[in-house]
Amino acid sequence: MCGIVGYTGPKQAYPIILKGLKRLEYRGYDSSGVALLHNGKLDVYKKKGKVAQLEESLVGVNVHAHIGIGHTRWATHGEPSDRNSHPHTSSSGRLSMIHNGIIENYAQLKKELLSKNYTFTSDTDTEVLLNFIEDILLNNNCTLEEAVRIALKRITGAYCILLLDEQDPETIIAARKGSPLVIGIGKGEHFLASDASPIIEYTKEVVYVNDYELAIVRPNELILKNIGNEKITPFITKLDMELAAIEKGGYDHFMLKEIYEQPSTIQDCLRGRLHAEDGTITMAGIDDNIEQIKNAERIMIVACGTSWHAGLVAEYIIEELCRIPVEVEYASEFRYRNPIVNKGDVIIAISQSGETADTLVALEKAKENGAFIFGVVNAVGSSIARISHAGAYTHAGHEIGVASTKAFTGQLVVLTMMALRIAIQKETITQERYLHLLTELADVPEKVDAILKNAEHIKTIALKYKDAHDFLFLGRGYNFPIALEGALKLKEISYIHAEGYPAAEMKHGPIALVDENLPVVFIATKDSYHEKIVSNMQEIKARKGKIISIITEGDDISPTLSNDCIFIPPADELIAPIISVIPLQLLSYFTGIAKGIDVDKPRNLAKSVTVE
Ligand code: F6R
Repeated sequence: MCGIVGYTGPKQAYPIILKGLKRLEYRGYDSSGVALLHNGKLDVYKKKGKVAQLEESLVGVNVHAHIGIGHTRWATHGEPSDRNSHPHTSSSGRLSMIHNGIIENYAQLKKELLSKNYTFTSDTDTEVLLNFIEDILLNNNCTLEEAVRIALKRITGAYCILLLDEQDPETIIAARKGSPLVIGIGKGEHFLASDASPIIEYTKEVVYVNDYELAIVRPNELILKNIGNEKITPFITKLDMELAAIEKGGYDHFMLKEIYEQPSTIQDCLRGRLHAEDGTITMAGIDDNIEQIKNAERIMIVACGTSWHAGLVAEYIIEELCRIPVEVEYASEFRYRNPIVNKGDVIIAISQSGETADTLVALEKAKENGAFIFGVVNAVGSSIARISHAGAYTHAGHEIGVASTKAFTGQLVVLTMMALRIAIQKETITQERYLHLLTELADVPEKVDAILKNAEHIKTIALKYKDAHDFLFLGRGYNFPIALEGALKLKEISYIHAEGYPAAEMKHGPIALVDENLPVVFIATKDSYHEKIVSNMQEIKARKGKIISIITEGDDISPTLSNDCIFIPPADELIAPIISVIPLQLLSYFTGIAKGIDVDKPRNLAKSVTVE
């Protein structure tokens, strides 16, 4: 988390940095700051709160400079406050630094520095690292670049750092391990950022910096080295991203825009892969590795949050269609619990950002053990995409709203296509069912569109229940993970406590919560579990719970048990999760808005969780 931006070149640095920070606010927004270097003097401005508050505080201030760095923070060490905001300044005042990540051995380093009479003005690990670098710089008579290299060899943890030196008017020193860094190459200028969104309007040529690399960036020069001081030739990538993709385009919020984009993002995900008319699926990542994947003794899926929910749906689909055992793991547990991973095991990593620290480290470990890593990733060129042996992008486009929506449906579409592709090769599916599911997948964008047209009705329901203190979400089978996802979405952006449960499991505990004040959302589309879930509705109704049901058009039983119904188009049960999640996204969105919450930037969250 945390967003970082840097600029060196002929233009005014501040407006570029400020705009960039606004684009990166999805990564953290509890405080922000900039350091500008002009005439050999470093000016550092920082403020608790969102970037707009920093901007307001700088109205009328002379921010003239051609080089600078900026940061928008998601607090790890030290509460959100002006003094804990970045950039930090070194003890002598010579250096300024911003940091995304966590320095795990900062306490030990701080002890060493305190014994040398260093003082600290913040509670952050960043200030410790900065003074550690300065201490090496001053005592070893070396260049800043060397001091950074020496310091980074001593630290454990994750970082992307940008440094300015008062004595070097044109240079930004940058380094990364575990936290992303992209460098944009302009004409006589360079841009640095956590992702490409602050860079896109100036240049499409970028270099993705890898772990353990250090960049020395000047207006006309980009030197890339590894931590062992060997030069590396920068690999220039062309960005395939348009400015419009990162703007609101007339919607009030990115989240709403992203919900409404789904008919087209799902279409983009299917395009060139699903050929319903001739009954084929083309996915290069699967096609090229089909023997390994189809013969896997088991598949492990590793992910976090919403992406983990996509993994749960995939577990049901892959086991059903491909008859391969699947285990779905929270990346944060997997990485620490000494799991059994053998050579040739297939691991599917699911991630929107492609930068989630827990997922990334889990994969690195599995890769060391000889596992085959298949990435289902949204962010092109991201760390997880790059460490995977093969993969399939979800093609949902840049997702900015903190609550994941279009990336989730993209993940479900990719995972379903993968399962179908493997199943047909493995001959674990009949030709007839295969062709039917292909057609069903092709119809998804139209069905999603139909649900979006019903948004006003969903808004009315949201307004009716917005003051509830708790919600329960229940589903069975393929819709069970959708119940988890519905609860997560509501928690994130409305701050209402919500639990997702398998509908039948509810009677083993959560049923004690049910009374006339508890809204219970049933995801009860017409499937092989339908009669069973109707019985679960009866159980809730008998206890006076308020039932909101997501049901299939034509269902005439569920409405008699429900207080409110949201009808969705019929779909095969295996495809249903991709469309049954849409009303839940809208329900959360309208509830959050009704409660006056900034749904794009809900409290305490960040889009890209690059710390463990
Ligand atoms: C929820 C949400 C998070 C992410 C999780 C994993 O709306 O966005 O739960 O799904 O942090 O992130 P990625 O998919 O980027 O690895």
